[in-house]
Amino acid sequence: MIINNDTIIKDDDPLIRTKSKDVALPLSDEDKSLLLDMHKYVYDSTIEEIAEKENLRPAVGISAIQVGVPKKMTAIIIKDKDGNPIYDFALVNPKIISSSIEKSYLKYGEGCLSVDGEHEGYIYRSARCKVKAYDLLLDQDIIINAKGYLAIVLQHELDHFKGVLFYDHINPKQPYFEDPEAICIE
Ligand code: CO
Repeated sequence: MIINNDTIIKDDDPLIRTKSKDVALPLSDEDKSLLLDMHKYVYDSTIEEIAEKENLRPAVGISAIQVGVPKKMTAIIIKDKDGNPIYDFALVNPKIISSSIEKSYLKYGEGCLSVDGEHEGYIYRSARCKVKAYDLLLDQDIIINAKGYLAIVLQHELDHFKGVLFYDHINPKQPYFEDPEAICIE
């Protein structure tokens, strides 16, 4: 599948609100190839020359519904400043099995490949979460103990399975309401 900024479903398409379904394991060739294409998108999207040539918008994650497929699959790559992946996942049926009461939020807000408009405000999420999934890259079931930025990214991507977008979480009356107990991530 060709994935680029023109083929990614945007939030003006009601499809983005579709609830995603569990994926049968072992993966079919079709599901495997889609997830690898999503993973390649995320990897290439932060390499400037490729991103420019192939019309990719920089991202740390993408979920299958964003290419119009309502299946619980997501690819996440968080790179260090030299471009080497610190976290690298191609997840199937990821599920949050526990999460902290303590919250955190990104100081500069969140972004999404499916959202072009500006939506300013803080998005509070659990500061830590434990996610169980099958990871295609390792070909095994894994448990991710996430905190900090990774925990935010996982919760953002898993929200896509419910048809939820990041700005749904912004307090409409007080978008920059500051919760003094929450951890601010810069
Ligand atoms: Co998103």
